[in-house]
Order: sequence, then structure tokens, then C-alpha cells
Amino acid sequence: MSTTEIVAASAEALATLKLRTEGSNEEQKQADAEPYRYAHLLPHFSQDHYPPLTPYEHVDPGHRALDHPNPRAFLDNASSVVELTPYLGTEVHGINLAELTNDDRDELALEVARRGLVVFRDQQDFIDRGPEFYREWGSHFGRLHIHPTSGHPQNYPEIHLVYRDGNTSFNFEINDSITSTVWHSDVSYELQPPGLTTFFLLAQPTTGGDTLFTSQVSNLKKLSPQFVAFLRTLKAVHSGVEQADFSRAGKRGGIVRREPVENIHPVVRKHPVTGEEALYVNRQFTRRIVGLKKEESETLLKFLYDHIDKSGDNQARVKWTPNTVVLWDNRVTAHSAIVDYGESKERRHGARITPQAERPVPASADLDLNA
Ligand SMILES: [Fe+2]
Repeated sequence: MSTTEIVAASAEALATLKLRTEGSNEEQKQADAEPYRYAHLLPHFSQDHYPPLTPYEHVDPGHRALDHPNPRAFLDNASSVVELTPYLGTEVHGINLAELTNDDRDELALEVARRGLVVFRDQQDFIDRGPEFYREWGSHFGRLHIHPTSGHPQNYPEIHLVYRDGNTSFNFEINDSITSTVWHSDVSYELQPPGLTTFFLLAQPTTGGDTLFTSQVSNLKKLSPQFVAFLRTLKAVHSGVEQADFSRAGKRGGIVRREPVENIHPVVRKHPVTGEEALYVNRQFTRRIVGLKKEESETLLKFLYDHIDKSGDNQARVKWTPNTVVLWDNRVTAHSAIVDYGESKERRHGARITPQAERPVPASADLDLNA
């Protein structure tokens, strides 16, 4: 090819590329101009103020499934059931969650308790049934938690939303940090933190925004028996104060609708249905170990957080394809968002249904949480 031909070919390639770019820009503009399918579920920051939560008696639906002849019968018609890792996470295709019977839902609760995390693909029916259905769905598994600071669809405070789009200018969580990874168990500062939790995306970036999960059962099992025996004797303070302060500083929606609380939970908790023991501290909400000197508490928590951070062998990662619904058991897992899509300006809009569970049960019957 002569120099002239190369120049001509390059010019042609450039012109084609320009046309393609203009085409995709045009497509993007068109997509932007279309009304947003889930506009009725956009975040609303009501000025309501809520009284403190009151205790309630939680009956775990997973208990009922223990009596079923086959507690995994709800998966019989699945086209595929694949374990994501040996000890954490299962991915299911071919089941319509919206059509599960109450017995099926009980089995689902048990399965999520056992696997920590279950990912259901192709759930457009579930997602499109809307907020009344979300409330009915979640109420099967426990009393629905209303988040003290987050946005929710108007008139549906029980639906916790995460939201970000091209107009979102803040990046407070990650601007001052080398990573957006913050392992946590949702609202662990509550006296009765959530159990079986449902989360799905209504809109998502083309790539990025995956969610990380870790098994706190596996994290605990990696530790030596002597060390675990010591951890079973400990309890820790979990605090919602910093999350409220973050909102009061004008970040996110800037709303605190219920005064923040601190509660004491066992460092090792026992799942009420499976009996499995799980580590129950997290960097986001756990503040100190009760009864230890400051340096002891900080050193011990730092060791446990580092262990959780770096143990890839106990983790799974969910990539959000459209119409995916994920369920996790907040008692035996921790998770972290990944905010790696900030430059894309694409919308990420998620909804969480968060039933509360029992007050965490200490692994050791000798541990008195009220002392
Ligand atoms: Fe979370």
C-alpha cells in the first residue's frame, strides 16, 4: 500500500469511526430522551421523623422449611443451579421468584441461610410488580426495616434505594480513600439487624458496579480454635452515629429521620436456623470491643477487618446483568459496593427490601449481652 493509499485508508477509517461515534451518541441521546421506566421508584427524601424502633418477635421462615420433605423443592424446575464458590453463593436460572408460594419462600429463606448468597437471573416479572409487591414479598421474611437516612420511592419508606446518575456530583465515600471497598453487614447497629435481604438493580451501568460478598462463616472457620474460643467471649458496640452525621453534614439526601442508635452484639453469632457460627464485626459500623482496653480493642478489630478484607478465598462477586435479583443472609455474610463506574455517567438505581431478624444470638450461651 502506497503512502497516499495509507492516508486515504486512514481518513476513511476515521470517517467511519466518526459516523459510528455520532451514531452511538445519537442512540444515547434518544435513550436519554425516553421516559425512565422506573421513574416512579426514584429516590424521595421525605422530611418525616420516625420514633425509635421497638423490639419485635422474629419467627424465621427458614425454620418452617426444615420440616419439608425436600427443603430445596422450590429449585426443582430451575434450568440451572450453579455454586459460585464452594462455601458461598449459588446462581439460579429458570425460576420466577414472583410466583413462589409461601412454602417455596420458606425454602428460599433456608437456602439463602445455608449458601449465604443466592443470585436469581431473569427476574423482570419480579422487578416490574412494583413497590406494593416488594413490601408483601419482604414481609414474608420479617418486619420491614425503614432506613433512617436513605432515599425511598415516594410513599414507600420500606424500600431502601441506592442511586447515582450523570448528574451526581458527589463522591464522598471514595474521594478520600484508596478504595471504595467497605465491608459491612447492613445496619448492624440496630438491636435486631436484618436477616434475609433482597436487592436488585432497576438501572445499571454497562459495566462496573459489581457487588462483593464474603462469608463470615468461612472467615470465622479460618481462625484457630483457641482464638475462636476467645472471640466467643466478646461483644462489640455497633454504631449508627457516623452514618447519621454523614447525612447531617449535607451528604446524600441530608436527612436523618430516626435518631441514631448504638447496640451491643456478640462478636460471634449463631444463626437461629442453621446453627452455624459467624464472625459479626464490620469496619463500617463496629466501633469497639466491650471490656477491652482501647489499644487491645483497636488491634483486635484491625486484625479481623484485615482478615475479612484480604480473604478472597471466602468471597464471591456478583456481576449485575439486567433483571438480576440477589438475596443474601445479612447475619452470616458481609458485602461491599464497588464504585468503579463514576466516569460513565450512566444511571445505577438499586432497591433493597430489608426484613429485620432476631437480636443476634451469641455463639456462647455464657455471653450476657445485657451485663
Ligand atoms: Fe449494604
